[in-house]
Amino acid sequence: RLCYFNGSVMPVEKASVNIEDRGYQFGDGVYEVIRVYHGKPFAMRRHLMRLSRSLKAIRMDFPDLEQSLHKVAEQLIRDGKIEHGYVYLQVTRGAAPRDHLFPLAPLPPVLSATITPCPLRTPEQFEQGGKAVILSDDRWLHCNIKSLNLLPNVLAKDEARRRGADEAVLARDLHTVTEGASSNVFIVRDGIVFTHPDGPLILPGITKEIVLEIAGELNITVCQQPFTVGQLRQADEVFITDTIHEVHPIVAMDGIKIGDGAAGPVARALQNAFTEYWH
Ligand code: PDD
Repeated sequence: RLCYFNGSVMPVEKASVNIEDRGYQFGDGVYEVIRVYHGKPFAMRRHLMRLSRSLKAIRMDFPDLEQSLHKVAEQLIRDGKIEHGYVYLQVTRGAAPRDHLFPLAPLPPVLSATITPCPLRTPEQFEQGGKAVILSDDRWLHCNIKSLNLLPNVLAKDEARRRGADEAVLARDLHTVTEGASSNVFIVRDGIVFTHPDGPLILPGITKEIVLEIAGELNITVCQQPFTVGQLRQADEVFITDTIHEVHPIVAMDGIKIGDGAAGPVARALQNAFTEYWH
């Protein structure tokens, strides 16, 4: 597998990080995951805009962000001969002797990226859907920043796996549903779609943004308002969205069926339109 590091593309094994990189010691950095379809980065502009908002939120400057990242992604796709896959991009504040205070004169940011092949999901995988569990959302209050600090998300994912599920649906005080450990969460009730509004409690997902636009085109009503764990359990449909899974039905929650325990019509309509959008 290939990566980009220090200005060039190389095999992943050849790249080595300074142990005093602030990303490594403090999680002091931000990232993006960008899907590649048919050899082209998908929704790159939206990802770059979010990355630029994340950088601003952690008070980091990255001159020529857009140009450099386009080049990196294109080089990785070309050299890796990737048809379908995803690019992982991360930017850290750079390397310096360990100190909570970052140097006032900015360090050169450290940009790294990997590319991973990822086959398109089959219609059968969509129909099969996934299982989720509800867990307490005990993250910080800046979840809109796509920061490298993913320990709560990693632990939630592991807890989901221990309970035989694929995703953890997070809820503040085990009451208000926010998002998944690595996805946005939607419910459908009487044909109306509900999802948590953007703000500090969730990551503003690029897939979510696109799915909301598609819903508008399909005349599906969407309410961006918080909903509860109880409403989620009673929903006709639950689905998640993220760059890797696109629109993905959740057919069981804490081992209990959602609706009739199968992929639902609203998720299917949105996924079909999503597929058309990037083809
Ligand atoms: N995660 N919420 C969280 C907490 C996420 O980590 C992600 C994506 C999303 C969905 O965002 P998007 O639609 O832009 O992928 C929502 C990526 C895929 C990851 O960390 O690997």
